[in-house]
Amino acid sequence: MNLLFVLGTRPEAVKVAPVIAAFRAQGAWANVQTLLTDQHRDMVEPILRLFDITPDIRLNLMRKGQRPLPLAARVMAEMDRVLSAMSPDLVVVQGDTTSAMGAAMAAFHHKIPVAHIEAGLRTDDRYSPFPEEMNRRIITQLATLHFAATNANRDRLLAENVPAPSIAVTGNPVIDTLQRITSTRPPAAGTAPSRRTILLTTHRRENFGTPQANILKSVGLIVERFADVEVVVPVHPNPEVRRAVRQHLPSHPRIHQIAPLNYPEFIQLMARAFLVMTDSGGVQEEAPALGKPVIVLRTETEREEVVESGNGMMVPLESEAIASAVAGLLTDAKLYRRMSRKAFPFGKGNAAAKIVREVKKWAKGLGG
Ligand code: UD1
Ligand code: UDP
Repeated sequence: MNLLFVLGTRPEAVKVAPVIAAFRAQGAWANVQTLLTDQHRDMVEPILRLFDITPDIRLNLMRKGQRPLPLAARVMAEMDRVLSAMSPDLVVVQGDTTSAMGAAMAAFHHKIPVAHIEAGLRTDDRYSPFPEEMNRRIITQLATLHFAATNANRDRLLAENVPAPSIAVTGNPVIDTLQRITSTRPPAAGTAPSRRTILLTTHRRENFGTPQANILKSVGLIVERFADVEVVVPVHPNPEVRRAVRQHLPSHPRIHQIAPLNYPEFIQLMARAFLVMTDSGGVQEEAPALGKPVIVLRTETEREEVVESGNGMMVPLESEAIASAVAGLLTDAKLYRRMSRKAFPFGKGNAAAKIVREVKKWAKGLGG
């Protein structure tokens, strides 16, 4: 079976790498090729290296200040060229990025089946997350195999008349990667930090403008009110995000803006943080597995499991509301304990193995 994995961004690398590794471990049955669109240039390869993956094909598509639509056009055109030269039996994409949507569309035009990892996430608002909600819906229409992380994700697909035999609940491979990192590099234990660290990430397009300014300004309110709190902000390389951070993140000795961290360092930081504030999808999934309370900086969530597990809290994207929610966790020990219980709504780290099993089953059905 010839498998082509297509990925372009940081979250895709985190979530696809363990799946590639699991297929590679199958020996001759699986001929695995990895294609990077290079939608992100610098943040993908270090993650792949953790799994000893070297890309076979690179499209070198990132442009400074790129917008999703012209990028989508370039992904489709380049994938058309690649798929004209090779005919994999299956193209595997993950999530909701422009790379994933463009590759799935190109595979469809070449009549090559598509497998979709992290299928069935929905907010029901076509503009949030933007353009990811629509990318997901489009990929669902194009895919032959749908790997849902949770039962709720499977139910969403069933409600949209996706045939039940084409869906499998596998968990999310983000937990596979997380477990690999925490089992090989456990966070330093035994220290009693004198400061409580809050980890903040924000990069979502639908938050650009006032919501993101409010998020960044809330950090000033938090450090003013709590003298033992420091906030660490790894800043996404998107120039729009960097501009907003420059403009709205207050300068303060206990507010630290830093460059994006390599995955293991980021996970170590999250593991020693008191709590997490984020609009990232992946970070929301990792926080419950590390037993970290997470303030979800979105107006709606497609990962209701994080709220249901008790680890997550949605807040209105106003500075004072965000600061009060954080203050609640900093002062209410009972609430903090309740939100810090480890939970695994996205699986226990065996998603990659389940995905291999499902693809094997599918290949058998084809006589492969
Ligand atoms: C993309 C995904 C989003 C995902 C995010 C993860 C789409 C539509 N969105 O959004 O779902 O949450 O990645 O990070 O695919 N840049 C750099 N260096 C890098 C990476 C990006 O300079 O290593 C710059 C690009 O030049 C571009 C900007 O960041 O100007 C935005 O990158 P892009 O991939 O277009 O969108 P993201 O906002 O990162
Ligand atoms: N991440 C990282 N370094 C950082 C920030 C995030 O390695 O400085 C990881 C994080 O652990 C998660 C993934 O990147 O697994 C999420 O990517 P991102 O927030 O860019 O995208 P999203 O998940 O929102 O699509």
